[in-house]
Amino acid sequence: MAPRILILGAPGAGKGTQSANIADHFALDHITTGDALRANKDMDISELDTEYDTPREYMDQGELVPDVVVNAIVDEALTQAEGFVLDGYPRNLEQAEELEGMTELDVVLSLAVSEEELINRLTGRRMDPETGDIYHVEYNPPEDDDVAERLVQREDDTEETVTERLRVYRENTKPVLEYYAEQGVLTEIDGEQAPDAVWDDVMALIESAS
Ligand code: AP5
Repeated sequence: MAPRILILGAPGAGKGTQSANIADHFALDHITTGDALRANKDMDISELDTEYDTPREYMDQGELVPDVVVNAIVDEALTQAEGFVLDGYPRNLEQAEELEGMTELDVVLSLAVSEEELINRLTGRRMDPETGDIYHVEYNPPEDDDVAERLVQREDDTEETVTERLRVYRENTKPVLEYYAEQGVLTEIDGEQAPDAVWDDVMALIESAS
């Protein structure tokens, strides 16, 4: 049976980078709430009685989009996936409890990276708007000049928003790591190594669990 994998970590820890490797190598669906929300930033959520009318207001300030919106996205994606890598969810204990009612998990891993490194990674990150591929101005620049020219910075990768995203992570998402650690299912991987070394550890963990 295809593995069901949860990848946790702070903003900039490398979840997107490693999830792309996992999805590709193990032929799994990549379920990412961040990408799903970015693709629907201006959807009208006012009917849900939320503070703001669209996800954009929350995301551009580095705040969490309300659970009612995000839970529905994940629930829908999980019903269509057999094996998957879930990235960006759960981000608080309420979401973690919600996820328990939706699916079981075979692998729960977290990428550990220091805060100083997270800030470097996020402020230097660039995205290819055509392919969605992730680059970094220093750590992972594109080789192709055409790709380099079209790269864009994510709207929430400014220093101010990054600081707020890290605060929200410490307050809301760190307890989720403790929740899985207490259940004895969490494996922490050193996310501060070079991307290929992180991938070697991630791949070894998934292979040992299947
Ligand atoms: P989301 O898109 O999930 O962002 P995030 O969790 O903040 O994570 P990032 O995508 O910023 O980082 P990453 O860990 O994927 O790192 P990456 O691989 O790109 O969420 C965005 C927003 O959506 C939230 O703020 C919130 O508003 C909303 N949202 C999403 N999910 C939600 C939920 N469940 N509930 C409520 N709201 C939600 O790597 C970063 C950079 O580092 C790249 O440039 C990369 O090239 C580089 N890099 C990666 N690995 C390495 C390495 N080993 N060494 C050196 N550089 C590296």
